Amino acid sequence: MTGSPLLVAADLHKSYGPTPALEGASLAVWAGEVVAIMGPSGSGKSTLLHCLAGIVVPDSGQVRYDGRELSGMPDAARSALRRTRFGFVFQFGQLVPELTCVENVALPLRLERVPRREAERRAAQWLDRLEVGDVAGKRPGEVSGGQGQRVAVARALVTTPQVVFADEPTGALDSLNGERVMRLLTAAARETGAAVVLVTHEPRVAGYSDREVVVRDGRTRDLERTW
Ligand SMILES: Nc1ncnc2c1ncn2[C@@H]1O[C@H](COP(=O)(O)OP(=O)(O)OP(=O)(O)O)[C@@H](O)[C@H]1O
Ligand SMILES: [Mg+2]
Repeated sequence: MTGSPLLVAADLHKSYGPTPALEGASLAVWAGEVVAIMGPSGSGKSTLLHCLAGIVVPDSGQVRYDGRELSGMPDAARSALRRTRFGFVFQFGQLVPELTCVENVALPLRLERVPRREAERRAAQWLDRLEVGDVAGKRPGEVSGGQGQRVAVARALVTTPQVVFADEPTGALDSLNGERVMRLLTAAARETGAAVVLVTHEPRVAGYSDREVVVRDGRTRDLERTW
């Protein structure tokens, strides 16, 4: 990998009360690459992802996105960054139950003040790309788990983010649906040039990544510390 990384976490430490979650985690993500974060339950994977995404502020260490230190940013700037540059997919979709699927996907655009008609047109295109165009008018409670996750992926990508963070996006799916979500997520990310930071327990899911990073006891040594 050449050039400077898009996102860098350096020597992160984070405790929840007496419980250490990160004890020296470092990771660099280059534009457009798909990185899988693996490791045992409780090892700190989600905490690391949340620190990288500016959701959790580490006790010490640095997170830099595009040369800017996240912890030095005012909250409003950090949330603007999350809204415009980052996309998120979680284990259980986290779609808004009262909205239809197309409205869910359009929501991040609406928050950026894109007019409704244009936002829903772009949302519908993303649903088609994720092969769930047929559920556009349904509510999340009326679609299958696999369909719901593909809607969630569409919502994460609709703003064409620089980085998509996915925490066990296939954790609640059977293997066939999990593969389909991963195939569509990684294909769409490669097309748009988005990097993907993916937490997973499943080697099969990690197989869709360019690179795997293992977290153990809150520590990761990114093997390619070239930055
Ligand atoms: N909000 C929280 N409050 C208290 N402790 C927490 C919190 N979040 C995480 N922890 C603790 O921090 C450690 C790391 O948790 P984390 O969720 O990052 O692990 P993980 O690798 O994602 O695990 P899993 O694979 O089970 O999702 C664990 O000991 C966990 O109990
Ligand atoms: Mg986790």
